[in-house]
Amino acid sequence: MSETRSLLIGSGTAAGPIVIENHRLARIMDTNDQWIRERSGIEQRYFVPRGVGASELGIQAANAALEDAGVAPSELDYIVCATMTPDHYFPGSGTLIQEGIGSPPVPALDIRQQCAGFAYGMQMVDALIRSGVAKTVLLVGCDVHSCLMPFSDESWDVLLGDEDRKLDGEDFEWNSRFRHLLVLFGDAAGAFVFRRHDQDDGRGIIGCELYGEGANSSILHVPGMGSKSSPIISKSQLESGDWVPYMEGRQVFKLAVTRMPEVTRSLLTSCDYELDDLELLIMHQANLRICEAAQKQLALPDEKVHNNIQRYGNTTSATLPLAFHEAREQGRVDEGDLVAFTALGAGLHWGAVLLRV
Ligand code: ACO
Repeated sequence: MSETRSLLIGSGTAAGPIVIENHRLARIMDTNDQWIRERSGIEQRYFVPRGVGASELGIQAANAALEDAGVAPSELDYIVCATMTPDHYFPGSGTLIQEGIGSPPVPALDIRQQCAGFAYGMQMVDALIRSGVAKTVLLVGCDVHSCLMPFSDESWDVLLGDEDRKLDGEDFEWNSRFRHLLVLFGDAAGAFVFRRHDQDDGRGIIGCELYGEGANSSILHVPGMGSKSSPIISKSQLESGDWVPYMEGRQVFKLAVTRMPEVTRSLLTSCDYELDDLELLIMHQANLRICEAAQKQLALPDEKVHNNIQRYGNTTSATLPLAFHEAREQGRVDEGDLVAFTALGAGLHWGAVLLRV
């Protein structure tokens, strides 16, 4: 008897239009191209113009994925949007994407699992399809990190300007305070379209293994701007930078290099596969050094891993579809291939998903 699976039928991506090379960041904070490349592998990232919300990138990626799938917006019966930078505190960006792609009203869900958001999203989509709630589902991961950059108008002018001049004074000091974080992130979106698949060819989402662990929530979080603060953001919080993410980089690094390989192995085993069966591993792109260390632990050759953080930086919920789509475009993944996705991020949330393309 055939088993219902969730088949990936289309993918698409979008990135902010403004290229920010490392040397531009070095104009406005105490950093340099060499440090950023050596510690993170990042060479550049993309930003959206100020005032563009995550849903706008999400809509572009969704339209591209729908076109790739040959699916009209009216055929969708569920939308799942993963983002940690929604356009507004509420409502979420799911309904904005639904409207933007011209879909009739359908359930539109926002999920908030940060860098593990897209992996959680795939489990959600699979559950919706297998349970019969939905047949054709759009999953979008979109994040605009530039909104969390604590730059003054002058910082923005110097960052984006044609002239290679350096900021000085208080603004330079202020930006430098957050330099370990600010150099890592970029703005992008990725989308997958899944459809119910009843043929017994083994294709579709095969398994998911996901975890959440509040005991590690404090190592990566935004201290202010939530219901614990009343008002939600005060003048003193604005001034102290409590709205900028707080990150214990080394701790996150350690957890990522252990838990991503661990959960990938565990999921493969529970699905009766071995590492050798994998054609491709797509890891959350937070730091090239994390990906390299995880790849080493799994003893996977370079041809079985695709990284693109060098050009995009960490785009949170967009990294998995962005790297997968690029690998697909480069002919590195074909129909029938076994692909694993793994991610870890704030929450702490982490996990892996196994998919036969
Ligand atoms: N430019 C120059 N120097 C810097 C910078 C910078 N941008 N940032 C930090 N430094 C300095 C530090 O001040 C320190 O100087 P010191 O030795 O004089 O004190 C030195 O560089 C080393 O700093 P570390 O923080 O120890 O550097 P590390 O090698 O750990 O790299 C990094 C930092 C890149 C942040 C790394 O720890 C990392 O990538 N961690 C994981 C990040 C991550 O995965 N985040 C999760 C995803 S986000 C999400 O879920 C929302």
